[in-house]
Amino acid sequence: MSQLSEFIAYNEDKKIVAVQGLGFVGGAMLAALSNAQDRVKNKPLYAVLGVDLSTPDGLSKIEAVNEGRPPIISSDPAMPLAFLKAKQQGNIFATTDMSVFGLADIVVVDIPFDVKKTADGYDVKLDLFLESVSELAQHINPSALVVVETTVPPGMTENYLYDIFKKVFKERDVDDKEFALAHSYERVMPGANYLSSITEYFRVYAGVNDASSERARIFLESFINTTDFPLTRLHKPAASEMAKVLENSYRALNIAFIQEWTEFAQASEVNLFSVLEAIRMRPTHHNIMSPGFGVGGYCLTKDALLADWASKEVHGIGLPLSCEGIRINDVMPLYTLQILKKLYGDLTQKHVTLLGVSYLNDVADTRYTPSEIFCNELEKEGAIVQLHDPYVADWHARSEKISNTLDDLKRLQHDVLILAVRHKLYCDLNVDQIVSFFPSVNCIVDANNILSEEKATTLRNMGIKVLGIGKGHWLCQSNPK
Ligand SMILES: NC(=O)c1ccc[n+]([C@@H]2O[C@H](COP(=O)([O-])OP(=O)(O)OC[C@H]3O[C@@H](n4cnc5c(N)ncnc54)[C@H](O)[C@@H]3O)[C@@H](O)[C@H]2O)c1
Repeated sequence: MSQLSEFIAYNEDKKIVAVQGLGFVGGAMLAALSNAQDRVKNKPLYAVLGVDLSTPDGLSKIEAVNEGRPPIISSDPAMPLAFLKAKQQGNIFATTDMSVFGLADIVVVDIPFDVKKTADGYDVKLDLFLESVSELAQHINPSALVVVETTVPPGMTENYLYDIFKKVFKERDVDDKEFALAHSYERVMPGANYLSSITEYFRVYAGVNDASSERARIFLESFINTTDFPLTRLHKPAASEMAKVLENSYRALNIAFIQEWTEFAQASEVNLFSVLEAIRMRPTHHNIMSPGFGVGGYCLTKDALLADWASKEVHGIGLPLSCEGIRINDVMPLYTLQILKKLYGDLTQKHVTLLGVSYLNDVADTRYTPSEIFCNELEKEGAIVQLHDPYVADWHARSEKISNTLDDLKRLQHDVLILAVRHKLYCDLNVDQIVSFFPSVNCIVDANNILSEEKATTLRNMGIKVLGIGKGHWLCQSNPK
């Protein structure tokens, strides 16, 4: 008997859910679904199948899941516990075998929909995504519910995916009257609350018809605490798809908006953080964004482009303001470089140590990290780049070693230290530790509001120049060595 047949036989009393794509979203979905409980029978609700590609990355995720480990590393202790529990319960199994979709009552689509930025705009990678969905349609049970969680251009589920499923079902000559299709997007946040950002958070959904919406609702209610976080049903999938890209575009544009004020405040020697704190006293303005090093990750860096593509493709309109937000964010880290160039003139042979290469505090994710453009441009200036991150062991974008422990850095020369990511480790460093790990440093740039005023003053009193993005008032206080 194969491992898969054993798994199916062992779980014959449960509904089967298959998750296509075991990345940041699919990985957390596996944890949530395999730990969902049938409250009446007091036992696991689902048998969960994870499906990924037979690439080295896909295979390593599959191996992790089958060994009872999360496919994605995070700082959330709930994740390893959830996978261990699922392994002990025997209700999780991962594979590259796409035919398992045929066994599933419900399929969750968590594969990427990529956008490649080009010199004159962007390319939406439509074919790759549609081929993956087409492959799913070849195997799927025609009475299954498919929930698309992938972020897609608004209109995709109804105008493209539904047609693909119907066409393939016709070719397969199967009855698809019971088939259900819905879109429901994730707001998952990799980090300390990774798993609960799925199970304890608000969700939006919409089906291609009433029956699809109803089945999607029942499914979502089975693993999300909808008592405290009620679901929002929208009238059609394009609305759910639009909600996702609009909420991310809104956030990206708000971050971009603050950049020009950061530059203005810096030139005016104004502490922008205290200005923003004053403004946040108004309840209408409480979520105004803060200055920082840059914007990264898979979503905020591209979602407005998906929306722009759909808006142009279908209606000939476009979303120029939202796209401009993405452009501003993409080059934001160059502002930190500009500050360094202004300070030193020439950066040739300067040892610049970057603390943090992931795009977000306390996660290992380096996708589209702002550190990439910063390091590339810094290197073009002739500087010697040194990297540290407590979470990132291997960063495909750069060949140099990433130190994972601060002790490794003691023996290196450091002319400039850039505090780029608000990892807890960096926020918790006291002045003695900073001076002991970086004994030769003569300039620190706090690019992400990591140093307190007190720490900055103490460092300055030790003869170290301390600057900060959004901290224009530090300019007039700094004393170069
Ligand atoms: N990362 C986030 O925080 C986040 C949050 C909300 C929404 N999203 C959206 O969710 C989607 C997935 O994002 P992610 O971050 O999980 O991506 P990811 O790159 O981490 O994972 C995607 C996984 O899908 C696999 N895959 C690709 N094609 C496949 C196929 N045909 N069959 C099976 N597996 C396949 C890949 O090998 C990879 O393991 C994207 O649309 C993204 O925009 C991401």
